Amino acid sequence: PQPGWTTRADVVVIGSGIAGLTAALRIRAEAPDLHVLVVTKTVLNAGSTQWAQGGIAAALGEGDTPEQHEVDTLIAGAGACDRAAVQVLVTEGPDAVRELIALGTNFDHHDGVLSLTREGGHHRDRIAHAGGDATGAEIQRALIAAIERDPSIEVIQHALAVDLLLDADGGVAGVTLHVLGEGQRDGVGAVHCRAVVLASGGLGQVFNQSTNPAVSTGDGMALALRAGAVLRDLEYVQFHPTVMYLGPDARGQQPLISEAVRGEGAFLVDWDGNRFMQGVHELADLAPRDVVAKAITRRMEESGKPHMWLDARHLGAAFWEKRFPTILATARSHGVDPVTELIPVAPAQHYASGGVLTDLEGRSNVPGLYATGEVACSGVHGANRLASNSLLEGLVFSRRIAAVLPGELRPWSSPGAEIRNPGLVHDSVRHDLQLTMTAKVGVIRSATGLAAAARALADMLTRGATAVGSDQWEATNLLAISTALTQAARLREETRGTHWREDFPDRDDARMAGHFDTVLVGGEL
Ligand code: SIN
Repeated sequence: PQPGWTTRADVVVIGSGIAGLTAALRIRAEAPDLHVLVVTKTVLNAGSTQWAQGGIAAALGEGDTPEQHEVDTLIAGAGACDRAAVQVLVTEGPDAVRELIALGTNFDHHDGVLSLTREGGHHRDRIAHAGGDATGAEIQRALIAAIERDPSIEVIQHALAVDLLLDADGGVAGVTLHVLGEGQRDGVGAVHCRAVVLASGGLGQVFNQSTNPAVSTGDGMALALRAGAVLRDLEYVQFHPTVMYLGPDARGQQPLISEAVRGEGAFLVDWDGNRFMQGVHELADLAPRDVVAKAITRRMEESGKPHMWLDARHLGAAFWEKRFPTILATARSHGVDPVTELIPVAPAQHYASGGVLTDLEGRSNVPGLYATGEVACSGVHGANRLASNSLLEGLVFSRRIAAVLPGELRPWSSPGAEIRNPGLVHDSVRHDLQLTMTAKVGVIRSATGLAAAARALADMLTRGATAVGSDQWEATNLLAISTALTQAARLREETRGTHWREDFPDRDDARMAGHFDTVLVGGEL
């Protein structure tokens, strides 16, 4: 079909969390003449940033250094991090956070000093937080206010980015959008542009239970794959250890109980009251996330129970109200009072460490396509992201993209006017693939389970859409990314970080010494 409308912008930023809004603001700061358009699938604050609780990690505390932050990040990443990317993250992190403060973000202070806490895998207190446990919401607020102060940044909400338009050289020439209810730009249209920055977040809705909001449907990764981009490390899906357990039928976004609660002294217990993390790791309840998630899962399997418990009663009512007001209110709204009761917790999907392969300036292999934040994979997280490195990643790498992008914009070109319509699948596929992925490609994986998942996903491809809309696009993107993730998990025949193969229980360091990354190239699937 032909686009219903067309428009132009020098740069299109897809996504409006910390990565997308930082990219837009910094590109404008570097190149005030550029017309920057931000598109977002629903509203500006609907993505994962808004939900971040614990905070943002950076070596800002007395005695802390980027080198110590680097060591903790590399250890958590289980031998699969790209060291150069980690060094960029930790050395540029402190200035990036200071810039966020200068922009108007109100982080928590104590006696005039920035309050820093600890989370799993960190050997220092280095997590800055805001509003107690509402860090992401405060950062999102400050970034949206800054975007609104710059009338030259255009925003289109309710705009699902569908596909890239490529020029004759295979470089970015535009992007097609499916827009709902935005006046003259309603329906499917095309934006001609000279660069696209993907900042569309993760893929949590691939699984049945996730801490991610409903909008995290892997759209950016799927769009990039269709355009010929390379995806890396998709098998490294992080399961957060302490997600509130709401019963066997709970689906979609689930309430996170931040690691910062353990950072402030809470601990895990089994159904007999035993503190089972002691002896598992030197950091006990604050071991890296994959270690804690595995220990909980093992205990659940051994005991046949659907969850374990988090004990934070000793923190007391006053501390809970001041430090974790959001978590307290959420837990109480689900009938559990953490001041007097144990909190039922189980691991649930939380973060995609893999994504669109980029270099240290956020460039993908498609000329003119950049990626930053959760959608991207610079190699900074390896096989397991260190707690609170994700907000930092979006911030640091968006600044780096902004530093180079204005100098390497592609010439204007006229992409073909036709909009491609890859076979869309029925929206009912969404629920079915979530069940398959959680059962077969979740915390514990095996060759037989992965093969069964691949077969089930292939069958779902045949269930064509009977309508064309964002539900069908999301289901199609989820299916593409589930297929890619399953393929990556089959390729990695070892257990490493968040990727747990019961048929290959050990790390294969000899193979990793040859830099074995799973790499999927668009068009191959
Ligand atoms: C948390 O607060 O536990 C989540 C922090 C993160 O995912 O980095």
